[in-house]
Amino acid sequence: MDTVWMKEEEIYKAAELLKQGEVVSFPTETVYGLGADGTNDAAVKKIYAAKGRPSDNPLIIHIANLAQVNEYAQGISEKARIVMEHFWPGPCTLVLNKKGPLAETVTAGLDTVGIRMPDHPIALKLIELSGKPLAAPSANSSGRPSPTSAEHVYHDLKGKIAGIIDGGETGVGLESTVLDLSDSCKPVILRPGGISKEALEAVIGPVMFKPELSSQSDVPMAPGMKYTHYSPSEPVVIVSENGIGWKKAIRHYENKGEVIGLLASEDIIKEFKTTHNCSFSLGDKQDIASASKRLFKGLRYFEETKATVILAESYNRIGIGEAYMNRLEKAAGNKVI
Ligand code: TXA
Ligand code: MG
Repeated sequence: MDTVWMKEEEIYKAAELLKQGEVVSFPTETVYGLGADGTNDAAVKKIYAAKGRPSDNPLIIHIANLAQVNEYAQGISEKARIVMEHFWPGPCTLVLNKKGPLAETVTAGLDTVGIRMPDHPIALKLIELSGKPLAAPSANSSGRPSPTSAEHVYHDLKGKIAGIIDGGETGVGLESTVLDLSDSCKPVILRPGGISKEALEAVIGPVMFKPELSSQSDVPMAPGMKYTHYSPSEPVVIVSENGIGWKKAIRHYENKGEVIGLLASEDIIKEFKTTHNCSFSLGDKQDIASASKRLFKGLRYFEETKATVILAESYNRIGIGEAYMNRLEKAAGNKVI
């Protein structure tokens, strides 16, 4: 199949393809999504096929106005309404009790559904023009870093999808926070993202992280326990704040004959860059938003270099730092030095 590369002005063409049951990638404020009509089972199946995504992992649906929430969710609690009011459009997906004519494959058989209203003019316009809720996971091949540009999508999915709308680089750079409010007494963050736990708690009170998430920071280096998620082709190792430090870590891998890719803040790169290694700057160490925006691009960057191992910088788990560390730990399979 030819994958059509579309500019923003060609959004009408993209909406037509969606109406015909095709899949099209579009920009959101977080990462690029791979959209299909969420009420068309055959179309949604094409998403799973193009990504190579396991069919038991549910998709989220993207809506453009609040009336659409009432069409696809029921028993919506006061807390859910408050979160929508404060954070939509924006990088927060709500898991709610499902209702209405959604394709069975969207929710992978669950009786809940993830819904979000993206904060991006192209995404909102595309949803409106298509007249449907758009089921859309991140537009990467399953297991790869999520795409933050149309080029990333093209690299992974060309020939497998009908089109891509190029809206430039995405802003947040990490996927939305997934907040389970299907039981309003127990709000649980299933995936940290652009809206922090602190920001949610300021408006709805106590929120928990899913237990598996909070334990990850302390998991020791465990070869063989590698996740295959957000993974570039080179192994990733996190240089921890309380580990052996950059100098020794670099020497350790150089002695093994590795070519190092430094994925780090400007200061670390200035200090440790040599002619033998490669580097990709995450920006100023104080600027966690910049590091989050650039993480996935950086992971993909080293595939075009001679680097054989990526040493990546650890950041404080404050605000979006929680999401940054969550993605980095998965990319590294929890390998820390
Ligand atoms: O920022 C984002 O959320 C991006 C953009 C494109 O909107 N989308 C995205 O989709 O990251 P995806 O499919 O890559 O991740 C959705 C996450 C998955 O971890 C999935 O397991 C979870 O949301 N999820 C979806 N529906 C769910 C449900 N009913 N219950 C629990 N988890 C759900
Ligand atoms: Mg994804």
